[in-house]
Amino acid sequence: MAEVRIRNTNERIQGEENVRSFLEKQEVLYEHWNPAKLPVSLQDKFVLSDEDKQQILTTFDSEIRDLAERRGYLTWDIIALSDDTPNLNELLVKFEQVHTHTEDEVRAITAGRGIFIIKGTDDVGYFDVELTAGDVISVPENKPHFFTLMDNRQIVAVRLFIEKEGWIAQPFDDPSFQKSNA
Ligand SMILES: [Fe+2]
Repeated sequence: MAEVRIRNTNERIQGEENVRSFLEKQEVLYEHWNPAKLPVSLQDKFVLSDEDKQQILTTFDSEIRDLAERRGYLTWDIIALSDDTPNLNELLVKFEQVHTHTEDEVRAITAGRGIFIIKGTDDVGYFDVELTAGDVISVPENKPHFFTLMDNRQIVAVRLFIEKEGWIAQPFDDPSFQKSNA
């Protein structure tokens, strides 16, 4: 279940309702799907065949379509990252830059873990959202953030888009951001 850590104060926010209500105030959508719907063989698998990916999409088809309908997302896919991913370290360097884009960034974690670092309102500052299987997040358009892996370096997530072409990262140069504050 997702946890929030506010970087300036090190305050942690736990529990589904507390996390949802904090994120709502920050205009970040948080929902939860039942990760146990996935066959056990796919709950801990990070190198996926096309059939595996299709099975994940089929398993969560009603959740995906419900979210897409409410939020206007039109297309979706699966991303899987682990130490078996070619060039993982280079990819992570690229990921770990604060940026914005002109559509929401949506991730529904189906296995593993991941973390969003998000620039909140001025009174909150940057906060981390740690995500595990079942957590669903949508970071709104134009909100500075980045997404990366956690120590286990393994994740599978459904990504939803309005259009992939409209989703080019714009670097957000923020001298006040300290990456090492983790
Ligand atoms: Fe992004």
